[in-house]
Amino acid sequence: MNILITGGAGFIGSHVVRRFVKNYPNINIYNLDALTYAGNLENLRDVENAPNYKFLKGDIVDADYINEIFNKYKFDGVIHLAAESHVDRSITDPLAFVKTNVFGTVNLLNASVSSWKNDFSEKRFYHVSTDEVYGSLGDKGLFLETTAYDPNSPYSASKASSDHFVRAYGETYGLPFVITNCSNNYGPNHFPEKLIPLFINNIIENQPLPVYGDGKYTRDWLYVEDHARAIDLVYHKGRKYETYNIGGFNEWQNIDLVKLLCKQMDVKLGRAEGTSEKLITYVKDRPGHDLRYAIDATKINEELGWEPSVTFEQGLEKTIDWYLNNKEWLNSVTSGSYKEYYQKMYN
Ligand code: NAD
Ligand code: DAU
Repeated sequence: MNILITGGAGFIGSHVVRRFVKNYPNINIYNLDALTYAGNLENLRDVENAPNYKFLKGDIVDADYINEIFNKYKFDGVIHLAAESHVDRSITDPLAFVKTNVFGTVNLLNASVSSWKNDFSEKRFYHVSTDEVYGSLGDKGLFLETTAYDPNSPYSASKASSDHFVRAYGETYGLPFVITNCSNNYGPNHFPEKLIPLFINNIIENQPLPVYGDGKYTRDWLYVEDHARAIDLVYHKGRKYETYNIGGFNEWQNIDLVKLLCKQMDVKLGRAEGTSEKLITYVKDRPGHDLRYAIDATKINEELGWEPSVTFEQGLEKTIDWYLNNKEWLNSVTSGSYKEYYQKMYN
């Protein structure tokens, strides 16, 4: 069996690739990634020589290339994670998100339909999506699989659009898809443009911690390996033409999360309690900032028995340890174009 995983050099994708390569020696895993600023083959050094692993450098926006690899490798399944994934970047460059997240997804759908030639037995197109497609919650309530789509950022609008295309290919061509909509991930290999790794890096460097607005925005955090385990379960056991929400049952207001992170970092760095908190700086809010995300993950729990395996405190500690033990990784991704990005975004 041959499975194509897209975006496997990125944060979540690298954990999914590692899990599949190690757990399924009889499945050939093809990792297709364009290696944008967010893609990093260092994330996969431990599996790069495995006999069931092959890296393909390519862009999902390039339809000819996508058709070529489908013809060559005869994929039986696709797990699609490649995307532009950062909300702030989508506000400054929305078209990049339309290209990769919408055009790129449609190219993969077209290649799947044409290469599988309507014989969909044993085939599966798994689209990895986000809870942000549901928009923003008020103080109460949770996102269900049936919650109406209401995206607010160019990023979430592009992901919502790609979800609609996947569903439409199921209805129109019978493509056996499955979609998951997951909450905020954190863990090793997370690019330091997102809240947790950016703040870990800034605490190490004694730099200000830029909290948007009043810091009272709420996210539901899930350790990345728990997401990878959910993807594995849904790929193998989820029902086709279904959506599953994945979440951490773990809501935190940003400011409370940042204070916990500061506390844990002070201990790890041997700094006096309260040192890192002094770096907190309230800055201009993100335009269209969604107030609250929170997932009801009952369906995946009841149908597939999935639940998170670590508490937030445990996951955060593992994450901090990983960054402190992988300073070279952090230094290499924060040099060069990262500095320019940071200046533009935060000054
Ligand atoms: P990421 O930005 O860390 O990685 C994205 C990967 O896709 C990178 O390796 C990049 O090189 C690759 N890529 C980008 N454009 C490409 C293109 N045109 N062709 C081929 N490869 C390309 O993203 P992530 O945080 O790992 O997210 C992975 C997926 O999970 C995305 O679809 C995202 O929407 C979704 N998701 C993320 C989260 C989260 O909290 N990070 C939560 C829910 C869902
Ligand atoms: O909910 C799932 C989504 O989670 C994924 O689909 C996205 O790919 C992923 O990037 C993430 O989106 P968020 O916008 O929630 O994540 P981010 O880490 O950018 O921000 C988390 C919260 O922290 C949000 O309320 C904005 C705030 N924030 C973020 C940054 C980068 C700050 O206050 N300061 C910052 O510098």
